[in-house]
Amino acid sequence: MSTRNSNGSLEPREQWGTKLGFMLAATGSAIGLGNIWRFPFVVGEGGGAAFVLIYLGFVCLIGIPLLIGEISIGRKGRANAMDSYKTIKPKSKWYFNGYISILINFMILSFYSVVAGWAFYYFVLALTGQLITNDRSYENVFEGFITNPFMPIIWQILLMGLVVAIVMGGVKKGIEKWNNILMPTLFILLIILVFRSLSLENAHIGLQFFLKPDFSAINSSTILAALGQAFFSLSLATGLYVTYGSYSRSNSNLPANAGGIVFLDLVVAIMAGLIIFPAVFHYGIDPQSGPDLVFITFPTMFTDMAFGTIFAVVFFFFVFVAALTSAISLLEVVVAFVKEKFLMSRKAATIIAGAVITVVGLFCTLSFGPLSHITILDRTIFELFDFISAEVLLPFAGLILALFLGWGWKPAGVKEEVEKEGNPFPLFKTWSFLIKYVIPIIIIVIFLDSLGVI
Ligand code: PFF
Repeated sequence: MSTRNSNGSLEPREQWGTKLGFMLAATGSAIGLGNIWRFPFVVGEGGGAAFVLIYLGFVCLIGIPLLIGEISIGRKGRANAMDSYKTIKPKSKWYFNGYISILINFMILSFYSVVAGWAFYYFVLALTGQLITNDRSYENVFEGFITNPFMPIIWQILLMGLVVAIVMGGVKKGIEKWNNILMPTLFILLIILVFRSLSLENAHIGLQFFLKPDFSAINSSTILAALGQAFFSLSLATGLYVTYGSYSRSNSNLPANAGGIVFLDLVVAIMAGLIIFPAVFHYGIDPQSGPDLVFITFPTMFTDMAFGTIFAVVFFFFVFVAALTSAISLLEVVVAFVKEKFLMSRKAATIIAGAVITVVGLFCTLSFGPLSHITILDRTIFELFDFISAEVLLPFAGLILALFLGWGWKPAGVKEEVEKEGNPFPLFKTWSFLIKYVIPIIIIVIFLDSLGVI
C-alpha cells in the first residue's frame, strides 16, 4: 500500500494508528453541526415528527447500505475520493463521481466554516462570561453579530486557521489524536443537557412536536429536505468514507463500522432534538426560526439554569468541537485529492485548499450582512451553497455511488472486499437489492417529484 509523494517517489500510505482510529474519525465527521444545528432547524421547518420519521427511513434504507459500500471503495482503492474508483474500475468514467465529491466538500466547507466560526465565537463569549446576561436579548445579540461586516469573518478565519493546522499534521498525529480526546467528552455533556431539558415545564409540548407525527406537514420539498439531511448528517457520498476508508486496516469489519457510525450519529441528532424542542416550547421560541434556533434557544435555557454560565461554556465547547472535527474531515477529502493529483506535499496542499475555501466562504458569511440583498433562486449565497450541496449534489452523488456499487463494481466485488480476512457481510442479499434497485429508484423519484415532473 503506497502513495506517490511530492518528489514523485513512492511512500507508504498513511494509516490510522488503531482500529478505533477510523471509527472515531468517521463518527467525528458525521457528528457535527448537522446534528446539533441543522437537524433541529430542518425538523422545525419540516413540521416536526413526521419529518423525523421520514428521515429515519432514509437513514436506514439508504444510509447504512451506501455507507458500507463507500468505505469498501476506499479500502479496496487505497486512494483519494477520485482515484479509488479508477483503481477498482480502470478505463471507466465512474471516477467522475470523485470530482463531484471534491466539489461537494469544497462547497460544504465554505458555508460550514461560517457556522463553525459562530460556534467558536459563542464558545469564547461563554468562556469569558459574556454570553449569559439577564436582559435575555439573545436574538438581538445574535443578529447583530452575524450581520456585522467584520466580526464573523474574523472568527471564520480563525476557525479555518485551526482546521488547516490540524489537517497539516496528517492522519495519525493530527486527525486521530484530536478525535480520540474530543468525541467521548461530547456524549457525556449531551446526556446531562437532555435531563435538564426534559425537566422543564411544558417539556411535553416540545416532545410531542418532535415525536408525534402529523403527516399533513409533508410535501415534496420536505421529503427532499429529509433526504438531503440524511446525506449531510452522515457525511454520505462526499468521498469522506472513501478517503478515511483508504487509511483503514484491511481487517476492519465494515458492516459493523457502518452500523456504529449511523447509530451514534442518530443518537446525537435525537438527543439534540430532545434538548432543543422542550426548551423551544417552554420559552415560546418559534421552532421555524431557522439557522438562529440553536444560538438563541440555548443561551435562553442556560439563563434560567443553576450553573447556567458553566453549562453555556460546556455546551458551546461541544458545538465548537463537533463542528471542528467535521470541518477537518471536509478539508481532508480535498487535501488528499490535491496532494495526490498535483503531487504536492501535505503542507502545501492543505494551505492552498484551506485558503481558497476560506476566501469563497467569506461570501457566505457576508450574505448575512452586507451581501444579504444578493439572492439567486430566491436564496442568499449561504442558503444557495447549503441547498446546492445538501439537496442537489449529495443525493446526486449518492445515486451515482449506488449505481457504481450495484452495476459498475457489482455486489460480488463489494462482498469480496467486505469479507476480507474472514469478516461477515450479514444480509448481503438485501443489501444488494437495496443498492441495485431501491436506492436509485427512491432518489430518482424524489428528484423528479421536487422538480414537479411527477
Ligand atoms: N456530517 C457533518 C455534520 O453533520 O455536521 C457535516 C459533513 C461533514 C458533511 C463532512 C459532509 C462531510 F463530508
